Amino acid sequence: METDKEYFKEYLRAIDNPLPEMEGTFKQEGEFITKLIKSSGAKKIVEFGCGAGRTLQNIAGNYPKNTFYGIDYDSKMVLEALRRTANLPNVNIKYGDIADTKFPNGFMDMCFSTYNLVGDIPPRNLSDLMEEKRRILKQGGIALAITWKKDLGFLRKYYESIGISISKINNNVTETSHGSFYRFSPDKLEKFFLSHGFISIERFDVGPAWYGVQGIKL
Ligand SMILES: C[S@@+](CC[C@H](N)C(=O)[O-])C[C@H]1O[C@@H](n2cnc3c(N)ncnc32)[C@H](O)[C@@H]1O
Repeated sequence: METDKEYFKEYLRAIDNPLPEMEGTFKQEGEFITKLIKSSGAKKIVEFGCGAGRTLQNIAGNYPKNTFYGIDYDSKMVLEALRRTANLPNVNIKYGDIADTKFPNGFMDMCFSTYNLVGDIPPRNLSDLMEEKRRILKQGGIALAITWKKDLGFLRKYYESIGISISKINNNVTETSHGSFYRFSPDKLEKFFLSHGFISIERFDVGPAWYGVQGIKL
């Protein structure tokens, strides 16, 4: 699916000229994922909804012997991710839908999504996403989802800073000039992990703007 050109530009603005809160959040996200790869020994790692390759660009260089994959269904994002990770031979960017990635069963050691991918897709499709994560992970593999905290004041400031206007905002959804973005409480996200066969669920803080939930495939 293609996002419109304006949204693409706004997203690039948000990652390349971040608000101070987002800069701190991106930094902590990179540190957290880097540490998790080290402590878990994960070798094959995929990012669902990799966008312009921001996260893979930050972490893949630390682990040249590991293999990283990014998948996204927007061709503008895929082209930008290919460009930004061209100097990282251990990064493979794929065009495709995260609900049907075509990776073999049990192929990955770690599967993560960040920047509210879980809120980009309609809540009714979240089960498909969790199922696909579970299918492609090996037993004992790690799934990780990072998303917004429910700080409505900050979200208003964030969308305004990248030129997106808000028509409605509450604890569950932000309706904007570029579509609806959903939000999940940590409790709800943890329940999703549990109901899709993940155990040892842990919740953690990712800088001023985000939190994350991780689980291990049973
Ligand atoms: C908010 S962006 C985040 C990009 C990147 N993860 C980052 O942190 O900078 C969400 C990305 O998920 C992609 N996306 C959303 N739904 C998807 C789906 N069903 N299949 C593949 N990509 C998807 C969008 O195209 C977009 O690039």
